[in-house]
Amino acid sequence: MDFYGKDFLKILDFSEEELRYFLAVAKKFKEMKRSGQNHKYFPDKNIVILFEKTSTRTRCSFEVAGYDLGMGVTYLDSSGSQMGHKESIADTARVLTRFYDGIEFRGFKQETVDELAKYATVPVWNGLTDECHPTQVLADFMTIEEHFGHLEGLTLAFVGDARNNVANSLMVMSAKMGVNFISCGPKELSPEDKLVSECREIAEKNGCTITVTDNLNELNGKADAIYADVWLSMGEDKEKWGERIQLLKPYQVNMELMNQAKPTTVFLHALPSFHDLNTSIARDVNEKFNIAEMEVTNEVFESERSLVFDEAENRMHTIKAVMYLTLHKEEE
Ligand code: CP
Ligand code: NVA
Repeated sequence: MDFYGKDFLKILDFSEEELRYFLAVAKKFKEMKRSGQNHKYFPDKNIVILFEKTSTRTRCSFEVAGYDLGMGVTYLDSSGSQMGHKESIADTARVLTRFYDGIEFRGFKQETVDELAKYATVPVWNGLTDECHPTQVLADFMTIEEHFGHLEGLTLAFVGDARNNVANSLMVMSAKMGVNFISCGPKELSPEDKLVSECREIAEKNGCTITVTDNLNELNGKADAIYADVWLSMGEDKEKWGERIQLLKPYQVNMELMNQAKPTTVFLHALPSFHDLNTSIARDVNEKFNIAEMEVTNEVFESERSLVFDEAENRMHTIKAVMYLTLHKEEE
C-alpha cells in the first residue's frame, strides 16, 4: 500500500483496506511511543500547520507527531500569515510547497483545503473543516477497536447535531469499516441526503447499516458506543445557541440513555466538551439559557465508560501514521 505524496482530505477518498492500514500503523506508533523507541525517520523534513480556527488536540498532535518523527514544524494562524486576506490560497500553496514537505490545514471551507491540495505538490492534511474531520475519526475508530478488540458487528450512535463535521466523517468511516451507524438528532439537523445515500451504498457492500432517526429509543439494546459533540460548532453564529439548545436538549447524553443502550456501552466525544461550568463559554451560555451541562452530563463524561482521553491521545498516534505514510517513500 503506497500513500507517498497523497493528500488526506476526507475519509471518502480512501478504501476500507487503506483506512485499516492507517489504523495498523497508528497502533505501531503508539507502541513505539509507549516503549520509548526512537522513530525520528524524517530529520530532513519540515511541515507547516495552518489554523484558521482554534485547536488544542489537532495542533498538538501535528506538532508532537512532527517532532517525534524528527521534523521541523511551523505553526501559522490567520493573524500570523498572509493567507486568505492578502494572498490567495493558490499562491500560498505554491509558496509553502517550496519550503515544506507537508501542509496541514484547519479552517472553515472544505474548498480551501481542496484548493491547497490542488496547488501544493506536497501532501495536504485536513485538520477539520465545516464539512468533515477525517483525522478525528481515525482516532475514534482506533479507540473503539482498542476497547472492544474488533470493529465488525459493532453499532456506533452519534447523538446531537447529526449534520456537523464530526458526525459526517463518523458516518462515512462506519460505512467503510463495517460498523452499523445510527445518526440520532432532531429532523432539522439531519445529515444531508446525498451523503446518507453514498454511505448506505458503501455500508451495503461492507455488511453494515446506516440509520437516520430522531428517536432515541432506536439506540436501546443496540448502541455499543454513543458519541456526542458540541451543539454549536466553531464558525457557527453564536446567536444560534438558544435555538440549538431548544432543539438538542432532549438529545443530551445522560446515564439513562447509556444504560438503555447496553450495560457495556461506552461514551466518545471529539472534545472540547461542555459537561460542566468550568469554561467561560459554558458559563455564558448557562447565564443566558440556564443549562449547566450540554451535550453530555458530567456523570457520563467522568464515568468509567467514557473513553474520551484515550481518544484524545489517539489523535496523535493516528496523525503520525497519516504523516508518516504520506511522506515515506518506499524503497524501489
Ligand atoms: N477534537 C479536536 O479536533 O480538538 P481541537 O479542536 O482541540 O483540535
Ligand atoms: N464540531 C466541532 C468539532 C470540534 C473538534 C467543531 O467544529 O467545533
